[in-house]
Amino acid sequence: MSESTMDRLNALLPEWLETSRLHTGQGKVASYIPELFKASQDDLGIHIMDAEGNHVSAGDCGVPFTMQSISKVFTLILALMDHGEEAVFFNVGKEPTGDDYDSMIKLELVEPGIPFNPLINAGAITVSSLVGGDCKEEKSRRILEFFRKLAHNERLGYNEDVYRSESESGHLNRSLAYFLKHNGVIKDDVEDVLAVYFRHCSIEVTCADLARMALVLAYNGTDPITGEELIPRRYVQIAKTFMTTCGMYNASGEFAIEVGLPAKSGVSGGILTLVPGQFGIGVIGPALNRKGNSLAGVHLLERLSKEFDWSFF
Ligand code: DON
Repeated sequence: MSESTMDRLNALLPEWLETSRLHTGQGKVASYIPELFKASQDDLGIHIMDAEGNHVSAGDCGVPFTMQSISKVFTLILALMDHGEEAVFFNVGKEPTGDDYDSMIKLELVEPGIPFNPLINAGAITVSSLVGGDCKEEKSRRILEFFRKLAHNERLGYNEDVYRSESESGHLNRSLAYFLKHNGVIKDDVEDVLAVYFRHCSIEVTCADLARMALVLAYNGTDPITGEELIPRRYVQIAKTFMTTCGMYNASGEFAIEVGLPAKSGVSGGILTLVPGQFGIGVIGPALNRKGNSLAGVHLLERLSKEFDWSFF
């Protein structure tokens, strides 16, 4: 079945991508991290990989981009592997917020002042502080190593310009982190925690890297190409649940209705998604819709999901 789906994807994808690309003009490239604004408004690329390593790709799938919020899924998994569920969820909740991803409001209003979930910025900053390691360099090294393993790509590294740009302009994240420190949620030095967070957001990938990482989630933690178990199944289940309930920010409900797959987007325009037991998918389209997700990327995924009946709902 997977082979014939691949054949159909091969036939459809180039034309469908170009149709979706027509929508990029309606979106906006993120500019609050100045370096991200250098991305091309009209770029759109996709890479879909199956368990045998066969793939179809189309458009600007070779363009490198930073993971941004997509990285939050995998640092959460690493923190869970380091400390277990109890320790992680003592510090971070499990519920969507309905607020913007960088909002502070519920930290102040809702007891006990911990972030609502690990995919909003406050939650991901907290998770960064929980990753095992004696210092920020060690934590960042472990995160990069883990991502390289999942992507099966030893060359993954940082985009230093994006890292610097976010570090210099990240005043709101800084205030979130100091608030968390005040609430006793963050124990480490705030600037060290932020450095770990900004570093993993600046890890540079292509659609193929995202597809390979997603494939591991699609196969419940085992890389189906090498047969290596990389993540305990339980933590994949947790990660996929957060992706479904909060992965597309405040458009997660609509995405669940229209696409019906676990997914995580980032402000660089990347989307990582997966078809359970079938495919890992990476998308890039820097022009964002009003909810902060790749406008043309979501358009393309909606069309694909409907055509191939991928929704798990
Ligand atoms: O912290 C930030 O604002 C960015 N590094 C990541 C934001 C992003 O991709 C959207 N988040 N959910």
